[in-house]
Amino acid sequence: MSCKQGRFVSSSRHFRQGGIGRGGRWVVLTTVLCAVGSALAMAQGRGRGAAARTVWDGIFMEDQVARGATAFSANCVRCHGEQLEGITGKALVGDTFWRDFDGRTVQDLLDYVSKNMPNGAQAGTLAPDVYLDLVAFILSRNDFPSGGAALTADSSVGVRILRKGETAPRPLPENTAATVVGCLAKTGTREWTVNNGTEPERVDPKGVNASDATRDLGNRSYPLLFVLQSLDKLVGHRVRVKGILVGEGGSNGVNLTQIDSLSETCP
Ligand code: HEC
Repeated sequence: MSCKQGRFVSSSRHFRQGGIGRGGRWVVLTTVLCAVGSALAMAQGRGRGAAARTVWDGIFMEDQVARGATAFSANCVRCHGEQLEGITGKALVGDTFWRDFDGRTVQDLLDYVSKNMPNGAQAGTLAPDVYLDLVAFILSRNDFPSGGAALTADSSVGVRILRKGETAPRPLPENTAATVVGCLAKTGTREWTVNNGTEPERVDPKGVNASDATRDLGNRSYPLLFVLQSLDKLVGHRVRVKGILVGEGGSNGVNLTQIDSLSETCP
């Protein structure tokens, strides 16, 4: 577990809109979670340094970047471009990179590339070392520094992708496809809101979070927008909502694309 300052930041915005009781409670909860998180990290012997590693710590070597550049030209450039600006594939630098990877780990990036790229029938066909070189190359092109130890599958674990000097991801931008889990309430004739909501998470292409039925909920509220069918039969359920965030971090709600009941009671 890590101390997610980002949750605090986005809920303190919510606090201003939503009233003192809610915000106050969340501040306390966040503090407790952070304390538990660092106690756990210590107990597991990872220590503070290990728990806090980021892409700014020099986590790959220059020779990996050089090999990665060659592998990129051979396998990736036709879709992602010489400058990684994106052609038929996405841009791998700049805003797109941050929208999709802010707050995630280098392991997530390595996993994604290793399983899905080169996109299509060739996905996953390159050697594991080549994927490591490619990730080093992509990180280098996003201006993260090289260092004295090579990136490996093991060393990628827990290394967080964050902007320089920041200790938490920014709230997901407006229009991001995201998932939230919470309790469905009816708030008007044809209006429903998810209460006790978790912070929004990017829709995971690999599938849903298996712990959604039991994980801790949060204190966010999301009005559901563009609801085409009555949700009355799910009122009071723990639900997982997929949709498009309206406002940064879903501050104005979620345009609903899918809703699943996880349990008939909530929280
Ligand atoms: C045939 C075209 C094609 C090739 C070749 C290709 N990609 Fe991609 N790549 C894509 C597409 C399309 C996406 C977006 C997939 C999606 O969103 O489902 C993507 C997504 C990605 C992403 C995720 C970007 C994000 O913001 O989510 C990374 C990283 C990536 N590619 C790296 C690579 C690497 C490294 C290679 C070379 C081994 C490669 N790609 C080869 C088409 C390609």
